[in-house]
Amino acid sequence: MRVEHRASLRDFNTFALPALAQTLVRITSDLDVRRVVDHPQHGVAPKFVLGGGSNVVLTRDVAAVVLKVEVPGRRLVETLDDAWIVEAGAGEPWPDFVAWTLDQGWPGLENLALIPGSVGAAPVQNIGAYGVELKDRFHSLDAVDLVTGRGVTLDAAACRFGYRDSVFKHDGFGGLAGKSVITRVRFRLPRPWQPVLGYLDLERKMAETGNPRPDARTVFDWVCAIRRAKLPDPAVVGNAGSFFKNPVVSAEQCRDIIGRDPEIVHYPLPDGSVKLAAGWLIDACGWKGKTVGRAGVYEKQALVLVNRGGATGAEVVTLARAIQESVYGRFGIRLEPEPVIV
Ligand code: EPU
Repeated sequence: MRVEHRASLRDFNTFALPALAQTLVRITSDLDVRRVVDHPQHGVAPKFVLGGGSNVVLTRDVAAVVLKVEVPGRRLVETLDDAWIVEAGAGEPWPDFVAWTLDQGWPGLENLALIPGSVGAAPVQNIGAYGVELKDRFHSLDAVDLVTGRGVTLDAAACRFGYRDSVFKHDGFGGLAGKSVITRVRFRLPRPWQPVLGYLDLERKMAETGNPRPDARTVFDWVCAIRRAKLPDPAVVGNAGSFFKNPVVSAEQCRDIIGRDPEIVHYPLPDGSVKLAAGWLIDACGWKGKTVGRAGVYEKQALVLVNRGGATGAEVVTLARAIQESVYGRFGIRLEPEPVIV
């Protein structure tokens, strides 16, 4: 267990925002979490769990003990008749893990290729892209309780997955936000493999290439190409992916909005409600490519806020608020941020 004091978090958040951790503890095993729990000071101090730092906006220094999860490892747990069960340590980078499963011949995660972040953070916000959500491929995870130091294994029901949501994002009754550290995640990759190709961008690729039956590697390559064309690489331009969730409105509200803006991008959901494309709403308010202070709205995708160089978390939040106000002013819809704002 490595402990650092007044450690810079700039390299540990994909927005590249400046902030210090009073205490930073690197966690490489379940035992490390127990050592923190048993520690006379750290045990009783508030804790902040940091994964790949791809879903956080740091607006100030962090007084809590920051637990940086670096648990390594990846392995095939079991080959069943109808699935491969594959496991990874929470500290493994998600994009590398997806590429590795494909290299090993265990497809199923290809639609989730190239999403920045760590394996341990993936269930926290139930990452999703191109028609697949983490919950569709989830088996179980191991976590260590930050009060008792006890290890637990949670299945999908216990994780309470929702759209970019899980039990790990809630701190109310029964919520686990800040209460446990995810150390390993297992995935259930169904066999035989079935492609998921219903998303518009993938349908376009099928038409463009004249290939209606892509294999998993091809879907992987397509998803990587689509993402690279639309989303900034955090290694080059600081960002946290989509900054807002796509809002869900009632069918009635949607009819109203369509009446005024017929071209609004929307997707009907099974329960009768309608999901609206937040990127479209922000774009329609004229924000694409704009800059406020040193924070900006990405030129190719209005849902992504970027660090134009040297931005602070406060500048990002100021820009986010201005966007929320203008979308509310024009459409009467409140956009909810996706990343955790600290
Ligand atoms: N759109 C615009 N202008 C924009 C951006 C989008 O008009 O500036 C329109 C697009 O033309 C499209 C629609 O909005 O018709 C939706 O855009 P897109 O397909 O790019 O997806 P999204 O809703 O913006 C969501 C996820 C992404 C995920 C993609 C692909 C959320 C909040 N975001 O984006 O996830 O990669 O779908 O599945 O659900 C993330 O969470 O960080 C993330 C990148």
